[in-house]
Amino acid sequence: MTRIIAVLLGTTIAASALTAAEAQELNLYSSRHYDTDERLYSEFTDLTGITINRIEGNADELIARMEAEGENSPADVFLTVDTVRLARATDMGLLQPVDSDLLEQRIPSYLQDDDNHWFAFSQRSRILFYDRTDVENPPMSYQDLASPDYEGMVCIRSSSNVYTQNIAAALIAHLGQDAVQDWATAVVGNFARDPQGGDTDQLRGIASGECDIAMSNTYYYARALRRGDDQMSADDLANIGWVFPNQNDIGAHMNVSGGGVATHAPNRDNAIAFLEYLASEQAQEYFSAGNDEYPAVPGVGLAPSVATLGIFRPDTIDLADIADNVDAAVEVLNNAGWE
Ligand code: FE2
Repeated sequence: MTRIIAVLLGTTIAASALTAAEAQELNLYSSRHYDTDERLYSEFTDLTGITINRIEGNADELIARMEAEGENSPADVFLTVDTVRLARATDMGLLQPVDSDLLEQRIPSYLQDDDNHWFAFSQRSRILFYDRTDVENPPMSYQDLASPDYEGMVCIRSSSNVYTQNIAAALIAHLGQDAVQDWATAVVGNFARDPQGGDTDQLRGIASGECDIAMSNTYYYARALRRGDDQMSADDLANIGWVFPNQNDIGAHMNVSGGGVATHAPNRDNAIAFLEYLASEQAQEYFSAGNDEYPAVPGVGLAPSVATLGIFRPDTIDLADIADNVDAAVEVLNNAGWE
């Protein structure tokens, strides 16, 4: 009898261990593109025993994939580097609302979807950089980039890039489409070269002398300060100045990285646990220390590299207003001949 019970128990234990093993997974569809995130994910696994399977790509590709996979999608969490794709995924029914007191309390309301389909976990400011030697009077606003003073001096990413689309969308929300059409056309007229490369390449363009003024997210410059860059010397970096634009009116444009739980998430509890982990003190500190971003949770300390950039006035526009203007932004950029 004892033996039979032991055997039965053994079977039960084995079966529940198997179930637990199957459940200890999380499928992460991510358009974050930072090698330092490795530690963010491994710490979650250390804390919870949940293994993360990462599928990376640009947000539009991941959205298309989730849509094509439908109810059979293995996606648990969708992470992006912009709100617009989170709003789009929400509109397409690809994200489910998450009921979490922890997320509700820790993430400020302006950094989460009204219906809890997504939450932002980090912020970055998209600002202006310039060559301190060559540019005596740097642009002080996004509008200044259109000034004839800067003809042949400006380097910015392509119109297919989400950061470019988002800032154009934010400007449309503030200034209207006609004004931003004129702005975009004039900025294209000031290009130092056809749009190319990522944000770091815009900064490298200043170092190489090809660009005098560039637009980049704050974290690319802070990262170069913190760990160096193989194409920019310490002197090169010291010669790059920066301006948080529009400090007297709308404030500096912010973009966020955030995520939500997929509608058909097979590991829903793990997905929610992961989002709650991203809002934890430990993960929030790492967004700054590991990737030079601004934490979303108020009161979390900044990495020294980020603090070096200084205090500024952010644009506090509702993120939904940016999302609503992205289609108009794409139209404006295309009309302007912004490659
Ligand atoms: Fe980026």
